[in-house]
Amino acid sequence: MSTFVANPPSSHIFESLVPYYAEALLGAQNNNTAGEEIGHPNGHSVTNGVWVLLLGTLLWSYILLVVLAKKPNCDCTARLDGKTVVITGATDGVGKATAFELASRGAEIVIPCRNAEKGRRVAREIADVTGNHKIQVVYVDFTNLESVKVCTQILKKSLKKIDILINNAGIGNGVGTTLDGFPLVFGVNHLAPFLFTTELLPLLRKAPLARIVCVSSVTHLWGNINFDELQDLDGGSLPSQFRAYSRSKLANVLFAKQLHRNESQHGISTYIAHPGWTFTAIFRDSPMLAKLLLFPLLYLFLYTPAQGAQTQIHLALAPGIETSSGNYFVSCRPARTGKSAKDIELASNLWSYSEKAVASALNQSVGYCTSI
Ligand SMILES: NC(=O)c1ccc[n+]([C@@H]2O[C@H](COP(=O)([O-])OP(=O)(O)OC[C@H]3O[C@@H](n4cnc5c(N)ncnc54)[C@H](OP(=O)(O)O)[C@@H]3O)[C@@H](O)[C@H]2O)c1
Repeated sequence: MSTFVANPPSSHIFESLVPYYAEALLGAQNNNTAGEEIGHPNGHSVTNGVWVLLLGTLLWSYILLVVLAKKPNCDCTARLDGKTVVITGATDGVGKATAFELASRGAEIVIPCRNAEKGRRVAREIADVTGNHKIQVVYVDFTNLESVKVCTQILKKSLKKIDILINNAGIGNGVGTTLDGFPLVFGVNHLAPFLFTTELLPLLRKAPLARIVCVSSVTHLWGNINFDELQDLDGGSLPSQFRAYSRSKLANVLFAKQLHRNESQHGISTYIAHPGWTFTAIFRDSPMLAKLLLFPLLYLFLYTPAQGAQTQIHLALAPGIETSSGNYFVSCRPARTGKSAKDIELASNLWSYSEKAVASALNQSVGYCTSI
């Protein structure tokens, strides 16, 4: 797990900054006591001193904010021996950090992934670090619904039950379509997990008190679902990509809430997690403008993958949270969803739409078969 441990700014950074800051402060004071004005031949040093002072103050405030900002932390000590956990998107980012943590609690971990070699490498890393060798890798590509179906068939043959399913795989942006012709972000972030989860429900129902954790995002607040537009392709501009992502994340919340309504009677509880802004590969393919505008500002505020994983780890582990099924969590605590996310009719219509879309895609599929 050491790979994911956060490194808070070390004290020597503060120590090395102090002399510069003090010098700037004294410099500005000395210049002021000499009664020099801006515009005076020596006025430049006054101006410089004020600027250094201002920048220093800003820098100190920034560092203080970063240090004092509360990071999510799951303090559950529960073990998961004998439990089977399926985590999508566990080859990178918060999914990988989650897989490490849950493996260290003794669970059997199943990693469905699109890159077999990367999956095997991550499985080896987890086994080496945690000493838990019950890690399985299975092929799936969320851009291809037939592949999702085949993956679930393999899991139905190889597993007796699933105790915890973490729907974490996702993309932050993308233009074009999935192999089935759906807009890429909607297809990968919603339709594939919809099929994956509904196909695995029989295995989840076999486990006592199974849990499903759907990883959404606070961006669902800006999401909008209009059934007439769901087939429209997304543009590559920043607003289009943000619209596509937030729509898919709203779909995650609506899906999870409908799952809760359908499945709590079968002993399955469903939770929604927002990891918090986390520095992962999800930003890798962001439009250049987004990178230039946001990265310098966000870099120090972003969580590490281990911190971003805390909420979903909490929802997988915390004992006795079944009464919170159907709720949305941020920083390991229940939080409010947006208005559209509470729309029961929208959730039910999205379920029917997704069922039809997936069935029609699978009917037209020419067949697909792969395993690792
Ligand atoms: N990072 C954030 O700030 C943030 C904020 C809010 C919500 N989230 C949500 O958190 C989840 C995880 O994101 P992350 O930041 O950890 O992203 P990440 O580091 O990019 O990891 C995404 C994971 O999804 C997998 N994946 C992507 N496309 C796939 C496909 N077609 N088929 C199968 N697997 C696929 C990736 O596989 P590869 O390893 O092969 O690429 C990877 O394992 C996402 O649902 C995201 O929406 C993230």
